[in-house]
Amino acid sequence: MTARQARSAGTVPVRRAALDDLDPLEALWTSLADHHARFDPHYRLRDGAASEVRELLRAVLRDPDAAVWLADAAAEGGPTGFCIARIDEAPPILHEIRRAEITELYVRPAARRRGVGRAFVAAARAFALERGVRRIEARVAHANAEGQRFWRALGFGDFVDVLDLRL
Ligand SMILES: CC(C)(COP(=O)(O)OP(=O)(O)OC[C@H]1O[C@@H](n2cnc3c(N)ncnc32)[C@H](O)[C@@H]1OP(=O)(O)O)[C@@H](O)C(=O)NCCC(=O)NCCS
Repeated sequence: MTARQARSAGTVPVRRAALDDLDPLEALWTSLADHHARFDPHYRLRDGAASEVRELLRAVLRDPDAAVWLADAAAEGGPTGFCIARIDEAPPILHEIRRAEITELYVRPAARRRGVGRAFVAAARAFALERGVRRIEARVAHANAEGQRFWRALGFGDFVDVLDLRL
């Protein structure tokens, strides 16, 4: 099956990550931060952040309300992307108090446009639905043109603008 055929058949394989995936997860997380740092210095990792990133990943991997996925590609020397989703609960004053959020999503440049991102979102969607959650949020920087196109291609629409002010 070609990459294009696999993509349209929805068969790009992604799997749940575990604690022994910390090395590739840390590398992918750092690449995601580097990608975003091009849009705004706010996203730059500080020196020595690697051990904090590992601690954060450990906590997410142990969190029963979160899920972490990896896309494997042995031919490309290891995982090509990762995704993290989390279920949150708001105070019980609204009709719908639970939402899922895809908090991290990254696919290495060489593996893009083969349906890996789409497969991660499908996994996050199934994770949310299994828990009875019917809404997924994603935050995307205004300057992230490819991210903007990706989310919109998958059916996500405008919801909230996050404004900021440098002091
Ligand atoms: C955004 C990202 C995750 C997409 O991953 P991907 O594996 O390339 O996405 P897919 O191949 O599943 O693309 C699904 C659809 O999204 C749209 N899309 C994805 N990338 C696109 C781009 N650069 N330009 C236009 N449309 C795009 C297309 O409609 C695509 O379907 P098609 O290839 O059949 O036309 C990837 O580009 C990435 O990691 N970017 C850097 C990090 C980032 O911005 N993450 C999002 C954080 S908010």
